[in-house]
Amino acid sequence: MNQTIKFWAVVPAAGVGKRMNADRPKQYLELAGFMVIEQTLGRLLQADVFSKIAVAISVEDPYWPELGIANHELIITAPGGKERADSVLSGLKSIRDQANDDDWVLVHDAARPCLTASDIRLLIDTLINDDVGGILALSSHDTLKSVQDGNILDTLDRRTIWKALTPQMFRYGMLKSALEDTAGNLRVTDEASALELMGFTPKIVEGRPDNIKITRPEDLALAQFYMEQQ
Ligand code: CTP
Ligand code: MG
Repeated sequence: MNQTIKFWAVVPAAGVGKRMNADRPKQYLELAGFMVIEQTLGRLLQADVFSKIAVAISVEDPYWPELGIANHELIITAPGGKERADSVLSGLKSIRDQANDDDWVLVHDAARPCLTASDIRLLIDTLINDDVGGILALSSHDTLKSVQDGNILDTLDRRTIWKALTPQMFRYGMLKSALEDTAGNLRVTDEASALELMGFTPKIVEGRPDNIKITRPEDLALAQFYMEQQ
């Protein structure tokens, strides 16, 4: 049967933000007048392509229920998990009655609030006819070294090294199976790595360098700067 392919977003937002070293998880820090997670969800809503956005939230999180956006008609809350991959799988399960296996899912970190509509478009337009899917990624401008115990072992060929960003776009059924089959594997630090372990070869789509992940305290000022530039 020829059903229309839908787009879903899954947003892992159940981390504690250890490296940020703040008094609350980094997704609840203020950025340009809103909380980081509000900015991120706003970007996804603006894209106007998603049937629903499933957000994985820690069950102990007191901040999320206070946010107006938590009640948005397109936003579903799912329980977060121990690792990022567990949170993503939980988000996928929360839409299992609505999503078809062939639908596309874009997984996007709550901690990447500078995502642009143009990058969402580029990812979708590039991969829409792909069998597997792929991710936004960034090439490296710096010379890269392989290091052990403070000693350089080798200089890497930077043409073969890319930084993985989000969104990462895969078919609902394939992504869910891959995350289930690789559950507990600590090498699965993004969706693509789960697919790679299953023997698939996801594509990369060159994204914008301003799509940073807020990780350390200095990143908040940088994100604010990028937003002003956009
Ligand atoms: N995340 C999640 N569930 C987890 C761990 C992380 O949903 N168990 C989410 C985070 O909320 C974040 C994204 O995955 O939006 C990327 O993770 P990261 O940047 O590592 O965030 P934290 O794990 O919160 O930060 P840290 O590693 O510094 O503790
Ligand atoms: Mg983390």
